[in-house]
Amino acid sequence: MFQYQVPKINLIFGYGALEKLPYEVKKLGKKAMIVTGKNSMKKLGFLDKAMKGLKNNNIDVVHYGEVEPNPTVITVDKGAQIAIQKKCDVIIGFGGGSSIDVAKAIAIMIAHPEAKSIWEFSPTNKKPKMISSAIPVIAVNSTSGTGSHLTPYYVITNSDTNQKPGNGHNSIFPKVSIVDLDVVSKMPPGLTAESGFDVMAHVMEGLISSNSTPFSDVYALEAIRLVWDYLPIAYNDGKQMEAREKMALADCLAGWVLTTADSELPHALAHPITGFYPEISHGMSLAIIMPSIIRLNIEHGSDRIIKKYCLAAERMGGKCNSSGEKDALKAADKIEELLKNINLNKKLKEFNIKEENLSQMAKSCMETMFEDFKRGPVQPSIKDIYNIYKENY
Ligand code: NZQ
Ligand code: MN
Repeated sequence: MFQYQVPKINLIFGYGALEKLPYEVKKLGKKAMIVTGKNSMKKLGFLDKAMKGLKNNNIDVVHYGEVEPNPTVITVDKGAQIAIQKKCDVIIGFGGGSSIDVAKAIAIMIAHPEAKSIWEFSPTNKKPKMISSAIPVIAVNSTSGTGSHLTPYYVITNSDTNQKPGNGHNSIFPKVSIVDLDVVSKMPPGLTAESGFDVMAHVMEGLISSNSTPFSDVYALEAIRLVWDYLPIAYNDGKQMEAREKMALADCLAGWVLTTADSELPHALAHPITGFYPEISHGMSLAIIMPSIIRLNIEHGSDRIIKKYCLAAERMGGKCNSSGEKDALKAADKIEELLKNINLNKKLKEFNIKEENLSQMAKSCMETMFEDFKRGPVQPSIKDIYNIYKENY
């Protein structure tokens, strides 16, 4: 038996899709807040285009452009205060996962005016405040990516404690998700590689998750093939539009896998890395630890896990003759090959991480990401987590 919930998200995908934004906003509210990062959407002219479209359609709009990568509680709380004061009734997240996540968190805060901070809802609290609703969210994503435009999750860092847990609620599924290929094709090579590897992580994890279903497996295996075939092309030549389109599609498939099958050990270990070192990107943190976790999973995995890694390896051009452990390990080798091709084969110490922080990161992982452990084949101890960090230091 399995359960597979399909929420109502209106996904608009293609060149110039941003033009549809005003019509969709109009259906949902009267006063919009548009949430962006500090730079890219303005510099590339897309923010002006969006604002102009909204104003031409008589939609009141407030711009909140203070989102940093790996966004913080302070950024959400400040944006929420402005949105409440300005009486916004629809929130547009316009940018990468960071801007979309802040938009979702602000939408929750508006629906809970008694809350003083988004951190009150954090699952790391002894008695977290429960999310009951949110005002409508629209996502326009600019990376391919986190899948946040198709997930009910938001990820916010508490910079006092370096904790970076995920949280979620069905009410923050974006009502509308706009993927404009003109926007995502502007990503520079480093961001293309890092956010593109995040896509691969979602499907490698979702594929073996205990929450996976025959539906999510179809999406996951196709996304593995797409990322394997097209990410190196998009990385080497950002103008190659077929590769951009396939990566944007893979991001959507993977976002849906993340929603329905969930993440496991790699995301659990990645979040503390960026919680302590927010200058490292989410995709990079995953790249550093992914091959060793695949090998660990295979070592401890059931026949089901081994078979699934064989299927993944096949999608990346590996030949699996016996579907045994040796063949499954080709999945880890192929991931390493991909990482080399997109220049993400790195170690933690290359980012000036202090070795003495590894044990704090392991402790934070146990405290904030325990939900992710359940779905994978390995139930790690704090020592196991430390060892994975150390192996990749
Ligand atoms: O901040 P601006 O100036 O906009 O620039 C951004 C930022 O510096 C820039 N950028 C984004 N799109 C661009 C662009 N530059 C040029 N052209 C474009 N088209 O890229 C930098 C990184 O942006 P960010 O939004 O941080 O990247 P990403 O999309 O990788 O998002 C990462 C965040 O999403 C969370 C991560 O933990 C991290 O905080 N995740 C959210 C998930 C969810 N809500 O379901 C799931 C994911 O697993 C992930 O955890
Ligand atoms: Mn991710």
